Amino acid sequence: MKHYMIVFGTRPELIKIFPLIKECQNHAKQIKLTIVNTGQQKEMVDILLKEWNIQTNYDLEIMKQQQTLTELTINLMSALEPVLKMENPDVVIVHGDTTTASIASLMAFYQQKKIAHVEAGLRTSNKNAPFPEEMNRQLVDRVADYYFVPTQSNRENLEKEGIDSVIEVTGNTGIDTLHYLDLKRTIGTEQRQILVTLHRRELGEEQLVKICKALVAIAKEYPDIIIKYPVHLNPKIKNIVCSLLSNQPNIDLTNPLNYLAFQQEMMNSFLVITDSGGIQEEAPYYKVPVLVIREVTERQEAVLAGGLKLIGTDERKLYKNVVALLNNADEYESMRAAKCTRTYGDGKAAKRIIRRLLQEV
Ligand code: UD1
Ligand code: UDP
Repeated sequence: MKHYMIVFGTRPELIKIFPLIKECQNHAKQIKLTIVNTGQQKEMVDILLKEWNIQTNYDLEIMKQQQTLTELTINLMSALEPVLKMENPDVVIVHGDTTTASIASLMAFYQQKKIAHVEAGLRTSNKNAPFPEEMNRQLVDRVADYYFVPTQSNRENLEKEGIDSVIEVTGNTGIDTLHYLDLKRTIGTEQRQILVTLHRRELGEEQLVKICKALVAIAKEYPDIIIKYPVHLNPKIKNIVCSLLSNQPNIDLTNPLNYLAFQQEMMNSFLVITDSGGIQEEAPYYKVPVLVIREVTERQEAVLAGGLKLIGTDERKLYKNVVALLNNADEYESMRAAKCTRTYGDGKAAKRIIRRLLQEV
């Protein structure tokens, strides 16, 4: 019997680790699974644990309102070390680029545990964007033993860094989650919906204010559209967004949605505006065009295919690009026609990962 430990703490980690939890449970005769929720994000993770009825073995409850990255790091270190010592797993599985992932892998390394990195190899090679995620994932990739990469270009990124241990191209487990739920587009109204999410730290408060003002300008100019915006719970984001956007009748601000509700909003949208990593993978799967509010992206594949457009963080560019897509059917259709429904995976990533891990550990 092998002992696997899965560690997560934020919304995207749980969404993308969910298929691995299922796959380990499918191999219950071979795998003893310990599920550790660091609690980096409380409400945004709890909503999903409840939605999917996941029982964790540990909830380390490390979230403090607006804690700094240093506090977050220290709290993760002190909470994770005793759990690793007590459980003594054969392998620790982490996902992506959060501080939960980087500190869990560092703690596992200190305990000389094997480390599997899921969604390895993504890079912008700009240490400040996304911040601090680019350095988080590079740190994980320095100490990991097994690398599960979504795409071939992620594999090449690792090879360029001289990583020569186990690298397997699996697709992104986030696409498995979409397949698992087998969602269908609902027949909605004719009203065009723009779905917005923003949360990156490097965006900065001043720029967020400008972007909100551009959204108001768009909403005023196009009263027939609806802008739906489930607001991230980070107070630095929420306070600004709520104060600037709540009085516009065709802007609908909500709390974070559960996964199913969010997927339904996304697949029924005309356009998505986001700085999220996961949404850059999901929206192309639904063939919904995305304007990416970032200066750089590690998800270049769908940009190259034409389904994502990287427009930077300038509010004038945002305004111009949204207006172009609302007014110009050809421009819109060319994004929609981009062939990227399978760019980030075929829904079998978790099976590949667990099959390979069982050969290795
Ligand atoms: C974190 C990750 C980021 C990931 C994002 C997904 C780090 C450094 N950042 O960013 O990579 O893309 O999650 O959402 O790991 N808060 C709540 N309730 C919640 C969640 C957050 O109140 O359920 C508030 C707290 O005040 C918390 C703050 O938001 O201190 C920031 O949350 P945190 O997880 O530290 O950072 P994010 O910027 O959300
Ligand atoms: N998501 C959700 N509810 C929401 C907004 C997003 O379930 O209200 C999901 C979304 O489908 C995606 C993930 O959360 O799978 C993205 O999380 P986030 O943008 O917080 O983090 P990132 O992917 O940028 O790390």
